[in-house]
Amino acid sequence: MSFSQRTIFCGELRADHVGQTVTINGWAHKVRDLGGLLFVDVRDRTGLAQVIFPENTKAEIRSETVLSVTGTVRMRDEKNRNASQPTGDVEIAVSSFEILNQSATLPFPVSDEKQMEKVNEELRVKHRYLDLRRPVMQKKLKLRAASVKKIRNYLDDQGFTEVETPIITKSTPEGARDYLVPYRLEPGEFYALPQSPQQYKQLLMVGGVERYYQIAKCFRDESQRADRQPEFTQLDLEMSFVRQEDILGLIEGMTKSVVNELISEFDLGFEPIGDFPYLTHAESMRLYGNDKPDLRFGLEIFDAGSVVAESEFGVFASTVAGGGFVRGIRYPGGAELSRKQITELEDLVKQNGAKGLANFALVDPAMDAEGTRLLESGKRIKGGISKFLNASEVDALIELSGAEVGDLLLFVADSWSVSCEALSRLRLRIGTETGLRDPKKLAFGFVVDFPLVEWNEDEQRWDPSHHPFTSPKAEDIGHMSTDPGRVRADCYDIVCNGYEWGSGSIRIHSPELQAQIFDLIGVSKEAQQDRFGHILEAFQLGAPPHGGIATGIDRLVMLLLGEENIREVIAFPKMGNGYDPLMDAPSAVDEAQWTEMGLMLKPKK
Ligand code: AMO
Ligand code: AMP
Repeated sequence: MSFSQRTIFCGELRADHVGQTVTINGWAHKVRDLGGLLFVDVRDRTGLAQVIFPENTKAEIRSETVLSVTGTVRMRDEKNRNASQPTGDVEIAVSSFEILNQSATLPFPVSDEKQMEKVNEELRVKHRYLDLRRPVMQKKLKLRAASVKKIRNYLDDQGFTEVETPIITKSTPEGARDYLVPYRLEPGEFYALPQSPQQYKQLLMVGGVERYYQIAKCFRDESQRADRQPEFTQLDLEMSFVRQEDILGLIEGMTKSVVNELISEFDLGFEPIGDFPYLTHAESMRLYGNDKPDLRFGLEIFDAGSVVAESEFGVFASTVAGGGFVRGIRYPGGAELSRKQITELEDLVKQNGAKGLANFALVDPAMDAEGTRLLESGKRIKGGISKFLNASEVDALIELSGAEVGDLLLFVADSWSVSCEALSRLRLRIGTETGLRDPKKLAFGFVVDFPLVEWNEDEQRWDPSHHPFTSPKAEDIGHMSTDPGRVRADCYDIVCNGYEWGSGSIRIHSPELQAQIFDLIGVSKEAQQDRFGHILEAFQLGAPPHGGIATGIDRLVMLLLGEENIREVIAFPKMGNGYDPLMDAPSAVDEAQWTEMGLMLKPKK
């Protein structure tokens, strides 16, 4: 069956076209029946066009009916013009039309953005093909496509070669569980889906490619978070004969170029991004309490330990005496917070392991209100632990925190790791509550010098902080046998607005050092041969020094759109538990398939 094909896109119609006969194709976005006069806004991927049917047309046009409409373009009556729509001055007087596909009642009103806000997300994902018709969703797909295209263009110009690597392969450890694929010909053997192309990209360096990249699908069975998907996309790259500064220089140059072009082409409302600041991992933990700081604002954590070591407030003194830490943060304008609001902050730090949240406010010295104390220094403090503090302690805390009259100071006394976890969360909350986490700002930065390994208390072993192919810093190798926790790695992250956007390292290219690292993290000699024999062998056959990085494409689009849920920027995402409601996957397979794969069928309870 043939139909009249469009001569113009809906969104292109302008006053210039008045008098012309045109054909448009698309969906009935809004249908209004004004007693015999049928008005329909027809939508295609470019926009909306208003069409008017001849009086008393008999047509069953419902929301989302697929149409082909032919008619004459004319100016709308003055009073019916819509200045907020690019096509709002004109309309098409229909001469003929075809219904190409009828639409039954929709599970949600795709043409009504206000109503869509209330629609359950799983229902949207189940009917993603409807959800994607919304212009907001189309914009996300376009931005994502443009991001990838610009990345490709930039890297192609820099002499990179895009290489595809296998999807059914062998496990590469990135710290998550593997998705396994049974191998029919050898029951009991499995492929693994790659957690990243890490080993292949290193082998490509041994293969002389020197500059590789790939827009790579990665698969990780790990606990889900708002910024994670079980399958996601990386820009993965690797370079030979380079040092850390070369890789960071390249990725910074690429990010600035790509992001700044996207900001202007998609009118994203951000200031152009400038040079990336560098922080060491140790500084990041000290100032922000985590390794992915939100650098849109200051409010750094300060260490009050030396000031309060002898404090009358027993929790502080005993924590310091016991080798713990007393660290604090400033809440600008926080002196105004109610008791209830402070309790909410306290609940937040408690959920993150802290025992409490000591606090006091610096108030106007002239404010002689109940519950305040005027110190001999002339400063006035209020609430919380103020009765335990003396003038010199308060002066020192003001100096450390930069507190001004009207600010609240908040403290956690605990171990280093608890104080980091609790205060980093608190800092973000303060940033949100005070508006310092400016949604119109993008703050990229590098965190460098990560530790090589971290102690895994549960398993009683050292785990790589990044992955086992990461090179220790030359100057720290001496500590590897005596104090592994002290060894820093040539390992770096790119952060943006409190998210980790990318991660990479200089790799080991010596088989001896690689084996030494495997020994350190408890991979037996046998397992080294079995799991990594290929890479250890490759390193004996002319491996160049090399390093690389991978950044999350999904996370970039999220950041550019200010989305907090990664599913929003993925065409067909999975829900939090890994379930795909659209395809109903995962799902049971025939018993015959189990048998063929040599798997035992364990009945579902
Ligand atoms: P890493 O594991 O840190 O490094 O991953 C790099 C980047 O990939 C993104 N990312 C994710 N995005 C969505 N959902 C997930 N589950 C997810 N996991 C990771 C993040 C992250 O910064 N092979 C190394 C890179 C290297 O060393 O070159 C790697 O994969 O944006
Ligand atoms: P308490 O004596 O338990 O009632 O605590 C008095 C105040 O000290 C409360 O504001 C607690 O939140 C706070 N506090 C108790 N333990 C800690 C701690 N380890 N770090 C910071 N503040 C604490």
